[in-house]
Amino acid sequence: MESSNNKKKITIAIDGFSSCGKSTFAREIAARLGYIFIDTGAMYRAVTLYALDHGAITSGILDHDKLISLLDEIRIAFRFNPERGASDIYVNGERVEGRIRTIEVSNCVSAVSSIAEVRTKLVALQQEMGRDKGIVMDGRDIGTVVFPDAELKIFMTADPAVRARRRYDELRAKGEEVSLAEIEANIRNRDLADQNRAISPLRRADDAITLDNSHMSVEEQMEWFMQQFARVTC
Ligand code: DC
Repeated sequence: MESSNNKKKITIAIDGFSSCGKSTFAREIAARLGYIFIDTGAMYRAVTLYALDHGAITSGILDHDKLISLLDEIRIAFRFNPERGASDIYVNGERVEGRIRTIEVSNCVSAVSSIAEVRTKLVALQQEMGRDKGIVMDGRDIGTVVFPDAELKIFMTADPAVRARRRYDELRAKGEEVSLAEIEANIRNRDLADQNRAISPLRRADDAITLDNSHMSVEEQMEWFMQQFARVTC
């Protein structure tokens, strides 16, 4: 595989719909290029978990003012976990990698990620993490808001039924009791919420290239990616 060591490092922005395999794709790219990988969805999930744990969400209802009053005390960090070959997310020193992926967090994260103060805090942190380039960041607004000048922007999409099946298999493998219908409903609701929120809605940046991976293996996606990478770095 081509080495990037002798090349100038760039910023790679990956946006797209929920459960498209963005994080798997981004993590694999970062490993091959020796870049840092940041999953920004994990950051919105971590704030949501904190809100659930600290009484800012009860019975699915978000207390907007309470969440804003908690924001200053939430410290998010990533630490590399050699066992996983990826970074784990920590909130105030606690590793929350597993707890942020439950269906409860998935059902509340759209409401949390639509709050302006939450986005301002997390976008500033993301920009700081990418200051020195050599980063692959995935999310919903990376190519449009966080790094509008990223050298390579990819917009990922896949058939909702394929995405639901992937997420279902992932959660069942972890032992979570979920139904395929529940997962599909959650994905469709989050697609709608992501595209229609007032602040930083999900949209394809004008200079992004689209990747529909409904019927592609990870290896096929990597081959496609390396061609795009070569195009912008040569
Ligand atoms: O990628 P994910 O499904 O783990 O993201 C969780 C939620 O966070 C998703 O429903 C939308 C939100 N999100 C966002 O608003 N902006 C980002 N940059 C990343 C995620």
